[in-house]
Amino acid sequence: MREKVLVLDFGSQYTQLIARRTRELGVYSEIKPYNTKADEISKEPPGAIILSGGPSSVWEDGSPRVEGEILSLGIPVLGICYGLQVLVFQLGGEVEHSRKREYGPAVLNLLTEDPLFSGVAKTSGVWMSHGDRVLRVPEGFSAIADTENTECAAVRNASGNIYGVQFHPEVVHTEFGTRILSNFLFQVAGLGGNWTAGSFIEHSIHEIRERVGDGKIICGLSGGVDSSVAAALINEAVGRRLYCIFVDTGCMRLDEAEEVCDAFSEFEMNFIHVDASERFLSCLEGVEDPETKRKIMGEQFVRVFEEEAEKISGVRFLAQGTLYPDVIESVSVKGPSAVIKSHHNVGGLPEKMNLEIVEPLRELFKDEVRSVGEKLGLLSSLIGRHPFPGPGLAIRIMGEVTRERLSILRHADSIFIDELKKSGAYDDIWQAFCVFIPVKTVGVMGDERTYENVCALRAVSSTDGMTADWSKMPYDLLGKISVRIINEVKGINRVVYDISTKPPGTIEWQ
Ligand code: XMP
Repeated sequence: MREKVLVLDFGSQYTQLIARRTRELGVYSEIKPYNTKADEISKEPPGAIILSGGPSSVWEDGSPRVEGEILSLGIPVLGICYGLQVLVFQLGGEVEHSRKREYGPAVLNLLTEDPLFSGVAKTSGVWMSHGDRVLRVPEGFSAIADTENTECAAVRNASGNIYGVQFHPEVVHTEFGTRILSNFLFQVAGLGGNWTAGSFIEHSIHEIRERVGDGKIICGLSGGVDSSVAAALINEAVGRRLYCIFVDTGCMRLDEAEEVCDAFSEFEMNFIHVDASERFLSCLEGVEDPETKRKIMGEQFVRVFEEEAEKISGVRFLAQGTLYPDVIESVSVKGPSAVIKSHHNVGGLPEKMNLEIVEPLRELFKDEVRSVGEKLGLLSSLIGRHPFPGPGLAIRIMGEVTRERLSILRHADSIFIDELKKSGAYDDIWQAFCVFIPVKTVGVMGDERTYENVCALRAVSSTDGMTADWSKMPYDLLGKISVRIINEVKGINRVVYDISTKPPGTIEWQ
């Protein structure tokens, strides 16, 4: 059975980070809600359990608890922040309720030698973010580290399989954070740590073959990282029984369709290129409302896809490039998040066509998908690509989508991306693109007055697209991009830079 760590989520903003860190250390991890039952856990017992932090106080009515039996399964446990407090509270120790939060750096002093602290300096910087604190440890436990503010900054039980820390070892501001997590996984829990992109591919190919048998699979290929890696992986597993369908919506970036076709010409696979641009663009005629545009793009995509898929007889499966962040069951502490924009995928198809879904990447984070893609031999230009929304440039043109506007936007966008690549900034940016704003402003070129459209540059840093900050790009680079766009793109005489964060803004403009 595959070695794994289970992260029980109490709603911390760092939960995903804990899962990522353990994977970086070579141990596969899964996030489950805090109220996952001991019975369920025992069915496929993990090698270790980590209780995440969270915004609650153990003193609040109805605050989340871990099922008590989980702590007596004999599986090593590490509680972090709220995870520590819940452990201590449930096992009979004392947690002091405080309204005052301790947030930021603190100095950790080790009180004793312990496997959890192997290789950690006697005093070191840690990152705190808590209100309540542990006053007294449960029977059989002892404090193994303190800080100026708390005598129980780290605790353990006598048999050395239950630990808790008040600080956050998963954040980079904790000096020996990775070391402490690694000690927990390897010294305390005795895990092996052999999870890599290579072992994932092997495991995954085996699973796909078992699942699919001699059935046929179709896959919508967008040219983005996720669907490309999913296709390459499934291709490795079932070869010619995979049919990839690439739909050109007419709202792709400059030369995108050719690039995708070229990238996959290397692979021996059934690659079906459908140029549906006329169809998409005529459906978009006269449409200004963003949600209507998305709906049209989504509906047409499904129709085109369906028409193509029906030409292939006996298809039983539909592959999707769903990633782990989409899968993680969000916990009730946070409540369900509101739908801000409807995102398009091949929704509705599976039921209608009676297809079973295959999602080979549903266990992976984005950067892990990139490593798998590299290992499978996909072009680095494809793997390193910024995310691109399904509705494409249609939602980057404010107002009606016309061929002329698409052409202007494509040209401006290609200049922006070209300059980012030349300057080396491209790979450090999560996503960068141009937005076409059909608002005319006055300019002067040579001795002529111009009256043309505005182009906004959008570039953001992010880890998962859920939150984002605008990129602090050098002024010189911004200046160069602006000069090139205004000089080279007919139809634009003004360039502005979007400095909105998400939230409250979104990354795309529509
Ligand atoms: P927003 O604009 O919601 O975008 O901050 C977050 C991330 O999602 C991408 N995005 C989409 N992707 N279909 C997609 O496949 C869509 O309809 C869609 N809308 C936004 C966006 O580019 C960003 O990476």
